[in-house]
Amino acid sequence: MNNQMHGFVAAENAPLHDMDLARSSGAANLIDNCLGNVEGMTILLVCEDPRHGWYDSAAPDRVHRELLARGAAVRRMMVDLPENRPNADVQAAMNEVDRVIFFSRLGDQGRFNWHYTGPLCVMSYALNEAMLEGGYGSLDHLSMHRLKTAIDEVTLGAENIRVTCPLGTYFEGSPSATATSGSDVVIHRFPMGIPQPVLAEGFSGKAVLSHYLTPTGSRIYTPEYLPLRDPVTAHFEASRITGFSGPADLVAAVEAHYERVARDFGLDGYNIDSWHAGIHPLMSYDQPAALDPLRWSGTAFQHPRLLHFHTCGSGPPGEICWMILDPTIEVDGIALWERGQLHPERFAATRRVLDGDPALAAAFRAPAGPVGVEPAPAAPAFSPAASTPAGSFPADSFPADPATSSQGA
Ligand SMILES: [Fe+2]
Repeated sequence: MNNQMHGFVAAENAPLHDMDLARSSGAANLIDNCLGNVEGMTILLVCEDPRHGWYDSAAPDRVHRELLARGAAVRRMMVDLPENRPNADVQAAMNEVDRVIFFSRLGDQGRFNWHYTGPLCVMSYALNEAMLEGGYGSLDHLSMHRLKTAIDEVTLGAENIRVTCPLGTYFEGSPSATATSGSDVVIHRFPMGIPQPVLAEGFSGKAVLSHYLTPTGSRIYTPEYLPLRDPVTAHFEASRITGFSGPADLVAAVEAHYERVARDFGLDGYNIDSWHAGIHPLMSYDQPAALDPLRWSGTAFQHPRLLHFHTCGSGPPGEICWMILDPTIEVDGIALWERGQLHPERFAATRRVLDGDPALAAAFRAPAGPVGVEPAPAAPAFSPAASTPAGSFPADSFPADPATSSQGA
């Protein structure tokens, strides 16, 4: 038996007696706007074991119930962590159904180069019930798709894009190569939280790396991530990393990390494929990044406060991510992102999308949710029992060492 799967539940048409039958807007948003009419279909839910700390069981339960209410049959299988090969049991189960929803990292692995065959698949980045049923999962998926398309139109049609960040990132160039040879994700993603990646070809400058170097969700390797106690600057010309600068020990660690990952998979380590920034106005990351840097980088990248690079290897998504906090992205001189805040009202194409959906426009006026690396909340002057403010949490004051992290994926 494939050890990526330790349980299979054939729950076709099984009643979920213990579930409340109230409608759930996030689950309905996923089903209706990703799958359409499912009446008479058989849907497979590929569910990652909650003990791994990424997904819960309540989110797929919600979707399960909504599918039954729409006249679909449901099969569920529980899977373990991804490996560096497709999961044969998942493929076998997929062969027997009409549609598939992944509440599992397995669905993210081949997002640019799908390694399963068969039915239409949806990958859920809503990891748990709170994410699915909160604003992140409930904001109209079709509106987010329209926004994504409009942002692609604005950015990929630009002559010049310049990116900066508070730590000193500065790179600029032309996105013209992306329009002719760029690639986008090939599976359906829910929620929709990023535009088409912009190819690094045509851009030069420097990116100041902080917090962690993390995997891209593609291949599995050890150590899984590299903590950066201080920023390290990556210098690049077009799609080539030309060097790193910063504290000598960290530069050496970064270089060794690149060499190891590149050697393990036979990659061109110093190649940069592309970058993108988050576009979902209600993305809210629910725990400090330090608890699990892989979960953070694999989920919070849809937050507008994060810009994310795909590096190490030719072709998306590469194997090592850079995460840039609070980017300003100027598109032909107008900041579409300004210090981590997306401003779709500043361009005609994106403004039209806001005009067509007041709820989306309102979402962009709401305060941004936590991104996982907030600064420490200020302690009250005379309260020894200071509590964490609602909607926030104590900062990850120092990146965790992967060797001692308690929740490595
Ligand atoms: Fe990405």
